[in-house]
Amino acid sequence: MSFKNIDEGDLQYFRLVLGEHYVHTAAAHLQRCATDETEDLVCLPEAVLQPGNTHEVSQLMRYCNERRIPVTPRGAGTGLSGGALPAMGGVVLDMKRFDKILHIDTRNFQVTTEPGVITEVLQETVRAHGLYYPPDPASKGSCFIGGNVSENSGGPRAVKYGVVKDYVLNLEVVLPDGSVIWTGANVLKNATGYNLTQLLVGSEGTLAVITKIVLRLLPAVQHDMLLLAPFRSAVAACEAVNAIFLAGYTPSALEFMERDALEWSLRYTHTEWITLPDDVQAHLLVEVDGNHPETLLAEMEGIAAVVQRYDVGELLLAESHDQKQKLWALRRKVGEAVKSHSVYKEEDTVVPRAELPELLRIVKEIGREYGFKSVCYGHAGDGNLHVNIVKGDMDDAAWEEEVPRGIRKLFSEVVRMGGTLSGEHGIGLVQKEYMDIAFSDVQLDLMRRLKNVFDPNGILNPGKIFVNN
Ligand code: LAC
Ligand code: ZN
Repeated sequence: MSFKNIDEGDLQYFRLVLGEHYVHTAAAHLQRCATDETEDLVCLPEAVLQPGNTHEVSQLMRYCNERRIPVTPRGAGTGLSGGALPAMGGVVLDMKRFDKILHIDTRNFQVTTEPGVITEVLQETVRAHGLYYPPDPASKGSCFIGGNVSENSGGPRAVKYGVVKDYVLNLEVVLPDGSVIWTGANVLKNATGYNLTQLLVGSEGTLAVITKIVLRLLPAVQHDMLLLAPFRSAVAACEAVNAIFLAGYTPSALEFMERDALEWSLRYTHTEWITLPDDVQAHLLVEVDGNHPETLLAEMEGIAAVVQRYDVGELLLAESHDQKQKLWALRRKVGEAVKSHSVYKEEDTVVPRAELPELLRIVKEIGREYGFKSVCYGHAGDGNLHVNIVKGDMDDAAWEEEVPRGIRKLFSEVVRMGGTLSGEHGIGLVQKEYMDIAFSDVQLDLMRRLKNVFDPNGILNPGKIFVNN
């Protein structure tokens, strides 16, 4: 694809549509939209546009499509695969002005929202109506719901409640030619034609720009309990995960943290009230939730009994809301803590849950073979292990050449185990070169042709998902 650079005439048109105030070319704005939370990537846009309604998005898309100007939609910039980075320049469509929750339908347990609403704000707003939106990525306090839909995000509670796709009923989107459509209907069941809604969920901003989202909600859950369990073997911690399910329990979160993950987070958050005994290699953070405290207590006792079949240290049952919040903060800060520690590459491996111990073993084996250190943590109950490969003092040549070979081997093993490349972070820029491990040419060609149907000029978020596009 060849693209056009932005010139003064283009800027004039953007100002006409949006007003002077919402068209930015100053370095500070371009730099703000040149990075997200993905490793150390930087991609500068030529302009940042801040539309305020669907009609404006439609006008911008039609214009850019006709002139072959790349358009990269952006939410809060918390993504972990480079999805919001303007890899081919052009304009960033900064969706932050789409920040309104439009309608909470308390009769039907649904919410209609704009994409630029912070996920936690959405959760708290519906909670005030006795309703619950479960998906809670680690960045929930800053990420946008639109970005969550675009990446099909997960988070700790996916193990019981599912990921974003399980809540999206309908989307208003703008296609690259400027057409505005709804993808489905505001219903809980829908067997009417192709499922465009689910095709767009997780499409990483490559098919259309999301301007409204209809989500289903659950009744609010009243109680929860949280347990932190230290294990003397990290592989044993992974084995305990499946044992909990086999014993008949479905926790509302079941998170794994290798020793370094928790240690770095403790340091990063200046937390002193948890001490890490020398012989502890990993922790599980286990939550159960429901409306009947006595049932939760029985479940937690059952889970503790399963965990105690392994070589564990002293179990910590959170005693107060405050302690639960602190434990969750530690878990949620692991990603940031690792990032602050060293340059790193983050893999978002996912395997069928029972294969998790084998996955961890293989990660460490490949690390030894290719000379890298990894810090692993993640949503163990989903078989979703975040593998952070830290650069530390590794030299640049090994980092650029050996490590990608190791990652390729890791993904091959993951696929052999029945897993795949990304559970919740998406492919974006950083994983696209590995797509051939998970998909055949026939599958990749089918995906490319779908992209072409939506975006024949390839202007929407170019450079993502596929190696050549
Ligand atoms: C987490 C993010 C990195 O689980 O997905 O913390
Ligand atoms: Zn995660």
